Parts: sequence; C-alpha cells; structure tokens
Amino acid sequence: MASTPDPPIAWPASSYPPAVTQGHPFIMYAPGPRALRARLPRYLRPGLRVLDIGCGIGIGACHLAASGARGLTYTGVDPDPSACRQARNVLQALSGDQIQGQIAERSLQEHLDARPPAVDLILWTYSFHDCVDVTAEDSHAAVCAAIAALLRPGGHLILLDAGFAPGATADEVERTYAYMEKIIGHSDRGRYFPHGEIARLLTGAGLTLLEEQDLPLVALAGYLGLRHARAVLLVLGR
Ligand SMILES: C[S@@+](CC[C@H](N)C(=O)[O-])C[C@H]1O[C@@H](n2cnc3c(N)ncnc32)[C@H](O)[C@@H]1O
Repeated sequence: MASTPDPPIAWPASSYPPAVTQGHPFIMYAPGPRALRARLPRYLRPGLRVLDIGCGIGIGACHLAASGARGLTYTGVDPDPSACRQARNVLQALSGDQIQGQIAERSLQEHLDARPPAVDLILWTYSFHDCVDVTAEDSHAAVCAAIAALLRPGGHLILLDAGFAPGATADEVERTYAYMEKIIGHSDRGRYFPHGEIARLLTGAGLTLLEEQDLPLVALAGYLGLRHARAVLLVLGR
C-alpha cells in the first residue's frame, strides 16, 4: 500500500528572522527541527502558555510561530546573556498576534526556585543534557518531577535531545562530540544521556509518553560516518 507523503513544511521568513537564518542557514534540513515542526501543530491551541527551557536565541518561538501559533504567551529561559539578548530580538520580530512574552536570563534551576506558574506546553530542545548533569544521578528524578509539576493537567512536554544508539564505538562517540563542538561552538563531551534514559526519567516522574521518534542527530549523519549519533523527539502528556 502506498504511504501518504508528509505535507511540506514551510519556513517563512516572517517566522524565522535573519538573526536566526544567518546563524542557522540550513535549519530546514536539520532532522530534529524538521521532526519538531511536523509534530508541533497538533499540540497548539490559541492562548497556550509556553515555557521554552534553554531557549538559546529563541528558535523555539520561531517554530511555534511557523506552526500556526495564535495568542501564545511564551517564556524563554536561558542563563546565557548573549543568547537572551538575541532571543528578545527574535521574539520582538515575530507577530504579536501569534506570540508574545519574555526571556528570563536564568538557569532552569533558578527558574524552578522562583516558583513559576504552571504552563500548557514546555519545549525542551537540545538542552536537557545542559540542564541536568548526567553524572549527578541523584538529582535526575527531582528535576524531572519539578518539570512534570510545571505542566498543567492536559499539558504537553516536547523534548529533543542528543544521544547514542547502542553499538556506537568509542571512535564514533568521540567524532560525534568533535563534530558537534564544531557546529554548536562548545563541548558536550560526556554529557549525553544513555539511550532511552530521558524517556525513562520523565515517565518515572508521572508523565505519559505519547510519541517517540528516533532521528539522526545531524543532516548527512550517514555520509559523516555518524550513524549511531541520534536525536530523540519525545512528546509527553500530563
Ligand atoms: C544547544 S542550545 C539549544 C537552544 C534551543 N533550545 C534550540 O533548540 O535551538 C542549549 C541551551 O541551553 C542553555 N543552558 C545551558 N545550561 C542551562 C541551564 N542550566 N538551564 C537552562 N538553560 C541552560 C544554553 O545557554 C543554550 O542556550
């Protein structure tokens, strides 16, 4: 039986201002953002409150706008002052009818300590391993429980993060970290969570796993000899 092709994904300039496309000219070919964009529309409703953890320069706000956001209230959280400055500009460039909000220059832990209000949708893309120290196993359950508690009943958490498929050799792991260092500008060496662990932690915190997609971490992963370098896209519900 012939399968129906996925509808094309639009990357309109009105949703991706030059501040984003100049730094990420090939975003439309990146497996993770493509998968996120394919799924986001089904989790959007007018008026949602959204938290973007480790928002960076605000690409999550762009994805929301491009996915048909209406009347969203967006809070981006990131401890990097430069990323926050850029994220504020990006947010400002998006249609206020679609998305409005604020960028808070703080870590996830500082955000949780401030006892923020619960939200309808949490984006946590490529920053779980930044916010949660893979080596501090005793802390994992508490962070995930705090995130689950930040979701309103009926709310969703959409997460993307990097990892390795079983069978990755030490050489491929090292080449993956080196390649990522080149494209993201800092080292994540040793910080990715073991395969399946993020989903296990979040379901252990009481969230329900609704969708799980295994993706190449980077475009042309096969050509680069990085077949075990993967990203996982998770959608969890409360
Ligand atoms: C790879 S970037 C991802 C940015 C964005 N979410 C995206 O998908 O393009 C990771 C971000 O996490 C931020 N970050 C690092 N430690 C953090 C923490 N403890 N709490 C929140 N964000 C953190 C970094 O400053 C960085 O902007």
